[in-house]
Amino acid sequence: MIDVKQVGKRFGHFAAVQDLSFRVEAGEVYGLLGENGAGKTTTMRMMATILQPTEGDIEISGFSVRRDPVEVRRRIGILFGGDVGLYNRLTARENIAYFGSLYGLEPARLRERIDILSRMLDMEEFIDRRVGAFSRGMKQKVAIARTLVHDPDVILLDEPSTGLDVTAANIFRRMVSRMQDEGKTILFSSHNMGEINKLCKRVALIHKGRLRFAGTLECLREKFGIVDLDDIFMAVVEGSEN
Ligand SMILES: Nc1ncnc2c1ncn2[C@@H]1O[C@H](COP(=O)(O)OP(=O)(O)OP(=O)(O)O)[C@@H](O)[C@H]1O
Ligand SMILES: [Mg+2]
Repeated sequence: MIDVKQVGKRFGHFAAVQDLSFRVEAGEVYGLLGENGAGKTTTMRMMATILQPTEGDIEISGFSVRRDPVEVRRRIGILFGGDVGLYNRLTARENIAYFGSLYGLEPARLRERIDILSRMLDMEEFIDRRVGAFSRGMKQKVAIARTLVHDPDVILLDEPSTGLDVTAANIFRRMVSRMQDEGKTILFSSHNMGEINKLCKRVALIHKGRLRFAGTLECLREKFGIVDLDDIFMAVVEGSEN
């Protein structure tokens, strides 16, 4: 469970996130929407205890990011889009294992987790090859596996499908559904409205760091009287100047 409670983040005088509140339940895939610079990554970084909120608090499975950051980190897996930062001279397996060992996983458990993830993400063919020569999509799969190696309850995915082709994006979507069935809490940011539409029932829409909407996609469409998510998005971005 993720409980965002009136959270704010200032960088100097600039408020990147203001008075933000929403809740994501276990077993839910929740979408975080907003244009470039809206505050999505900042919000996820606060959830992962990489950044401290300047106002409010966030609870992850009941633990406060302010008071119990160690407990939070143990329960959270985070994946950022863009440069995934793998060690090129190590194999896919070694990259994932390195992260697993940082989480204190026992060798036997680590082997088991890597086998499961490698099967789930269709990585068996290249799991023992060095990642230096991997394509972007292959690297992204390794990064996804690394995010999930310690079997976290709460999974934060910041534009995770960037660079994935249609097949890999499908594998990814199936994996998200499976994690949802396992009762994981999944927060997902994307600029791809088609993907949001396929994966999420509920979304939060933020604009310039403030919440504009939180609820089901049906409610969102009803509220704006527009069916197409891209059009709703544009209406929010263009319709408000504060
Ligand atoms: N470390 C920082 N110092 C100063 N300003 C920052 C910092 N990190 C983020 N910001 C600012 O906060 C705002 C929100 O940025 P954030 O990265 O959260 O947006 P985003 O919604 O993830 O955008 P995108 O869709 O482009 O990834 C931006 O104006 C950004 O410039
Ligand atoms: Mg971002």
